[in-house]
Amino acid sequence: MPKRSTFFHHLHPPTIPEREARFCYTFGLGGIAFFLFCVLVLTGGLELLYYVPSADGANKSVQAMTYLVPYGWLVRGVHYWSAQGLVVVAGLHLLRVVFTGAYKRPRRFNWLLGVSLFVFVLLLDFTGYALRWDTDIEWALLVGTNLLKTIPGIGPALYGLVVGGSEISGDTIVRFFGWHIFGLMLLAVAVVGWHIFRVRRDGGISSRPKTELPATAVRISRNELVKREAFVALLVTIGLLGLTLLSPPSLGPVGDFLQLPGEARAPWFFIWVQQLLRWGDPFVMGILIPIGVLGLIVVVPFVLDRHSIGAARWFNREGRIAQIVVAAIAIAVSVLTIAGIR
Ligand code: HEM
Repeated sequence: MPKRSTFFHHLHPPTIPEREARFCYTFGLGGIAFFLFCVLVLTGGLELLYYVPSADGANKSVQAMTYLVPYGWLVRGVHYWSAQGLVVVAGLHLLRVVFTGAYKRPRRFNWLLGVSLFVFVLLLDFTGYALRWDTDIEWALLVGTNLLKTIPGIGPALYGLVVGGSEISGDTIVRFFGWHIFGLMLLAVAVVGWHIFRVRRDGGISSRPKTELPATAVRISRNELVKREAFVALLVTIGLLGLTLLSPPSLGPVGDFLQLPGEARAPWFFIWVQQLLRWGDPFVMGILIPIGVLGLIVVVPFVLDRHSIGAARWFNREGRIAQIVVAAIAIAVSVLTIAGIR
């Protein structure tokens, strides 16, 4: 009897080269990122049923969700851990794409979509943290948004657009809610769809040119691939449930956003920026350097490695400069993060 194809089967070409479908080529990272993203949309939609976006209601509604709503703690925990997981997995996926040269022509446009997704993922996580409106987010909200004011010319206007006024107030929570759901999430849904469509449009996952492959190169069917993906999704689900049970997301008392807290830390994915801010001018450390880092990542396939050859080979020689630059960025961000945590 012929196998029935589902939506998930049609996301893939009918057959995929065995070599590129191996776990140690992609580590399933793009697929795991997609799965986490879907879990985030689903659990976020459930949280919307109870969340109250106002200065009075935000923190209380998260408390109610955590302690009163049946299974609310589970939905909140899985949403939180999927968000943290997505930052890590999208970052590792980016590194895999760099070290296997998968950004090269014809995938340069998809690289740009991917970089924008990474920025979306970070901003979604940041705005999501802010929606708790508790003491943990005081530093990030006050310092993070004040950095915008340091941008010459457009700074104050940008600050007003982001926080909804000339200082953090009850309006900020409405503004951040708007950013989180409409400004970022809905756009990210569209870009994720586009990114995955482009993977297929560009000929599926990058593979070596046909001339380099033996005529007998084995290909696997998409049914086999979907089976593997379902297995990985099951493992990720178990991981998310385990993390939620062992380490549920915290929630502090309502924050005081009128003055800077003495002892406070940025959300973990921005600790490297917080560390940089200790060393110099806020505009240079908090705006110019992060934008410079992003710029270096954007230009990988356009400036750092313009070769079309070498894709689908780990640490290919043609992409050496791009690999060194991106590895240096990853190491610097990790070292600064560890220094900041200590
Ligand atoms: C929400 C975040 C993301 C999702 C859901 C996602 C999803 C996917 C999926 C499912 C694939 C195909 C399977 C694979 O290669 O593992 C893929 C491939 C790809 N992704 Fe992403 N991705 C995300 C973020 C990124 C980022 C941050 C980058 C790089 C800056 C990126 C660049 C690429 C490229 C160039 C490919 C083609 C790889 C190849 O052909 O070997 N993606 N992505």
